[in-house]
Amino acid sequence: MMRILIKELVKQRRSVRTFDGRALTDEDRKYMTDLLSSLENPWGISIEFFLLNAKQNGLTSPVIIGAEEYIAAKTKRVPHFEIAFGYSFEKVCIYALSRGIGTVMLAASLNRTAFEKAINIDENEIMPVASPIGYPADKMSIRESLMRKGIKADSRKPFENIFFNRTFDNGLDYDNAGVFANALEAVRLAPSAANGQPWRAVSDGNCIHFYEAKSMKDSPLGDIQKVDIGIALAHFDLVREEDGINGKFEFADPGIATPQNTQYIVTFRRQI
Ligand SMILES: Cc1cc2nc3c(=O)[nH]c(=O)nc-3n(C[C@H](O)[C@H](O)[C@H](O)COP(=O)(O)O)c2cc1C
Repeated sequence: MMRILIKELVKQRRSVRTFDGRALTDEDRKYMTDLLSSLENPWGISIEFFLLNAKQNGLTSPVIIGAEEYIAAKTKRVPHFEIAFGYSFEKVCIYALSRGIGTVMLAASLNRTAFEKAINIDENEIMPVASPIGYPADKMSIRESLMRKGIKADSRKPFENIFFNRTFDNGLDYDNAGVFANALEAVRLAPSAANGQPWRAVSDGNCIHFYEAKSMKDSPLGDIQKVDIGIALAHFDLVREEDGINGKFEFADPGIATPQNTQYIVTFRRQI
């Protein structure tokens, strides 16, 4: 089988809300269940995934059509759970796409109580998002296309407005981003709640420092934009690996002056 590059998958990916009603094939089901039980993240935080039948568990979403099954996941509220959760969940979505399977993370548009019951959540645990899983319908529903227009789902902020060289005063463009250019482009294209795109990054020699530019208030579930950062970190990590860049994530705030509402999250340090 031809191997599909992650860079290409990241470009092709879009949220799928209209499905064709077919159940997963046996092969795809096995692929997904194996994947869900074997995922790891760089912070060693346990994320427990579930594949759930919608009818049996009474799972519904006002924005989803034609999905028979959902993926849900839960984790303990330990430090950094949000980035670990976003990272692992997005890897599931990207690997699913490599088999033509569609997903969309849902934080708000779902009957949350039914989901939380189906995965037996306790008071120390949290389920930031769940996602339908299935094969995309040939045509989007009218509601989905209107929704996409409403939140400008197809647009992303320009590279040089979100990535910087050494300080937040110097915008970094793709052509000057060196070995990290593709990995940062994959960050730029990531999905985020309400397409808020809260990720910012500062390139600093062998390091990329990641930040969150917070534009939403916390909900009772916490800061969903930190989950967005985890999603972006998965894109970064998959593409830098594909590009043969070695290194690891570490928490080492370089103390660079930040714009308002922007906070340090994590650093990727390249090893040469
Ligand atoms: C953490 C998170 C939560 C989201 N919650 C919802 C939701 O509740 N309802 C919904 O329809 N879409 C939801 N989305 C999908 C986003 O609206 C979508 O990713 C964004 O508009 C960009 O579109 P794209 O994924 O097609 O590129 C969520 C996405 C993320 C990452």
